Amino acid sequence: MIDDNPASRRQILATGASAAIGLVLAADDGLAQALSPTPACHDGDVPTRPEIEGPFFKPASPLRGDLREPGMAGRPAELAGFVLTRSCRPVAGALIELWHADDQGEYDNKGFRLRGHLFADAKGHYAFKTIVPGLYPGRTRHFHIKVQAAAESPVLTTQLYFPDEPRNLADDFFHPELVMRVAAADDALRARFDVVLAMR
Ligand SMILES: [Fe+2]
Repeated sequence: MIDDNPASRRQILATGASAAIGLVLAADDGLAQALSPTPACHDGDVPTRPEIEGPFFKPASPLRGDLREPGMAGRPAELAGFVLTRSCRPVAGALIELWHADDQGEYDNKGFRLRGHLFADAKGHYAFKTIVPGLYPGRTRHFHIKVQAAAESPVLTTQLYFPDEPRNLADDFFHPELVMRVAAADDALRARFDVVLAMR
């Protein structure tokens, strides 16, 4: 089931807001240095392409920018970018939800491991710390995201892909418009994707 009821989500979100702000700010600095700190957008950009939610979405994820847990296997990854309108305006306070498979290609369908959401800052910037998802049968490597400008706005559901993955072209859902820009930093992967919402 998709929980697209923004009111119930916002209520859940409000309780942990102050804790998450610190995580977001802490995650922000390194990413801005690794990849261009400003969005590469143009007036009239096409909105980010939607994709299916897939079978493993679970509503009411925790409000957190850091999905890593002690002892969690997998290469560290940071996913960051801006949420923008088609005319390149930042969508301050946009909700971004991230969920993905673990290092072994498994989703946590009982709890909320590798699931979380946060709100973009005043510049529309968001940043998650997590791990690189593992592969599972039938799919190339991917993140799942949902993005919503405000409580009453439509929800964009899509998937983000890694460049140079051998399985990309064999995956029917893969699309080049949804490939993240990535940079390696020590043992971590820094990924950047700017989301363009279908609004002016
Ligand atoms: Fe998936």
